[in-house]
Amino acid sequence: MQSIVIYYSYSGNTKQVARVLAELLAQKGEVEEIELKCLDEPRSFFAQCKRAFRRVRGKIQEATLDLSGYDLVCLGTPVWALSPAPAINTCLDQAVGLGGKRAVLFTTYGSGTGNQRCINYMQEFLSKKGATAFSRFSIQQAKVKDKEFIVAEVNKALRLWPNG
Ligand SMILES: Cc1cc2nc3c(=O)[nH]c(=O)nc-3n(C[C@H](O)[C@H](O)[C@H](O)COP(=O)(O)O)c2cc1C
Repeated sequence: MQSIVIYYSYSGNTKQVARVLAELLAQKGEVEEIELKCLDEPRSFFAQCKRAFRRVRGKIQEATLDLSGYDLVCLGTPVWALSPAPAINTCLDQAVGLGGKRAVLFTTYGSGTGNQRCINYMQEFLSKKGATAFSRFSIQQAKVKDKEFIVAEVNKALRLWPNG
C-alpha cells in the first residue's frame, strides 16, 4: 500500500501525531510524509484565528499535491478558530487525483470547540474532489506525548481498511 501523510503543525503537536501515523503506515507499505510550511503565517494568535476563521489560503512551499499515485491519503491539521490552518486550506484547493481515494483526516485540538466543524469541512472538500471513503481521528493536545494512546486511536481509524 502506498500512503501519503500531509500535515501542517505550528507548534509541533500535529507533527507528533503525524509521525506516529506514518510509522504505523510504514508497516503496511511505503509512506511519504509532507510537512507543509506556511510562508505568510502571522505570529499573532488573533491574526492566526482571523485568517483561519475566514478560510484564508496560506502561502505554502512547492509541494506535489497530485495524489493519484497513493492508495491512502492522510491529511492533518491543528484546529484553528474552528477551522483548518490556512496551509491546509491551500492544500485542499491544490490537491488533485483524489477520485475514488480513501482518506484519513486527523486533527489536534485544545478545548475541542470546532473540532468536528473543522474535520467536516476537510471531508466535504475532499468528497467534492472525488474521495470516497473517510476515516477520522482527533487527539487532544494534552495527549500528544502519549504514544500508546495515539497508536490506539490511529489503529482504530485504520481498522476500517484492515487489509491495507
Ligand atoms: C491560532 C490558534 C487557534 C486555535 N483555535 C482552536 C479552536 O478553535 N479549537 C480548539 O479546540 N483548539 C484551538 N487551538 C488549539 C490548537 O488546535 C492545539 O493547540 C493544537 O494541538 C496545535 O497543534 P500544532 O502544535 O500542531 O500547531 C488553537 C490554537 C491556535 C494557535
